[in-house]
Amino acid sequence: MPLAEADVGYLRTLVARRSGNILSSNHGYLLEARLTPVAERLGLPNVEALVAELKRSPIKYEDTVAEAMTINETSFFRDIQPFETLRKDLIPKLLTARAGTRQLHIWCAATSSGQEPYTIAMTLRENFPQLVNWSVRIVATDLSDEMLHRTREGVYSQFEVNRGLPAKLLVKYFQREGTSWRVHPELRNWIECRKLNLVSAWPSMPRFDIVFIRNVLIYFDQATKESVLQRAARIMAPDGNLFLGGGESLVGLNAPFTRETYEKTVCYRPALGTPAPVPAPVRPVSFN
Ligand SMILES: C[S@@+](CC[C@H](N)C(=O)[O-])C[C@H]1O[C@@H](n2cnc3c(N)ncnc32)[C@H](O)[C@@H]1O
Repeated sequence: MPLAEADVGYLRTLVARRSGNILSSNHGYLLEARLTPVAERLGLPNVEALVAELKRSPIKYEDTVAEAMTINETSFFRDIQPFETLRKDLIPKLLTARAGTRQLHIWCAATSSGQEPYTIAMTLRENFPQLVNWSVRIVATDLSDEMLHRTREGVYSQFEVNRGLPAKLLVKYFQREGTSWRVHPELRNWIECRKLNLVSAWPSMPRFDIVFIRNVLIYFDQATKESVLQRAARIMAPDGNLFLGGGESLVGLNAPFTRETYEKTVCYRPALGTPAPVPAPVRPVSFN
């Protein structure tokens, strides 16, 4: 029996409130597929029982449910062009602009299992050996504890390393471990993992030179996208750059950025007048 409409509405509202991810009313099958194993893990017979439990004691399992409904698709060197722009344009400029402080701060705001921050780290290591003497922080954040654990571990299956990682970089930066590959500690040490829900309040963070918020805004509604982008602009250096996913843009959004084009890549520079306080997060919608 498919999930009752009322349960689908309840779960869609919960997911939107906890993670900003908007599921359509046709997502009943997806809720059922993703939440059946969650219910089983919690010793509950089915998703209906999980909904009843959530209504009784919402705090207990809400984050588990929201995390279970995220999409974690990622790969090494995904869409390649942003990493080419880092290599050819942005990092060379920052090497000059930050020569005084020798500090570089990069934020990867939806790290998933970590391929994106490790791709950034490899791009830097391969092309800018002088950065070994700089303070380089690549902050990798995500909503999901499981994804942060995977990023911290830095262990990837053969299938995962086959997706986008050149053989030369695989043998240089990873060590075989049974049927998997573990990232070398010197690369892992550049990545700082922290839990951060983009739709909640953000902890204090350094002023970022480069920000990746790729392939996550697509799951949010317009007000949530704008809230995230307005807050991101305020924690970026004035000459910093933001990358979005290949299918994402700022068209039609009230977001304080100007567009910059580098060959085939578009990125965005914060365009704030007088710096204003970071606005509070927006909490989306109800589907009941
Ligand atoms: C499709 S993956 C994108 C991974 C990577 N940025 C890329 O482009 O390959 C989306 C990630 O966003 C995370 N996510 C979803 N909602 C989030 C939220 N509200 N706050 C932080 N991360 C979130 C998910 O856990 C997932 O790991």
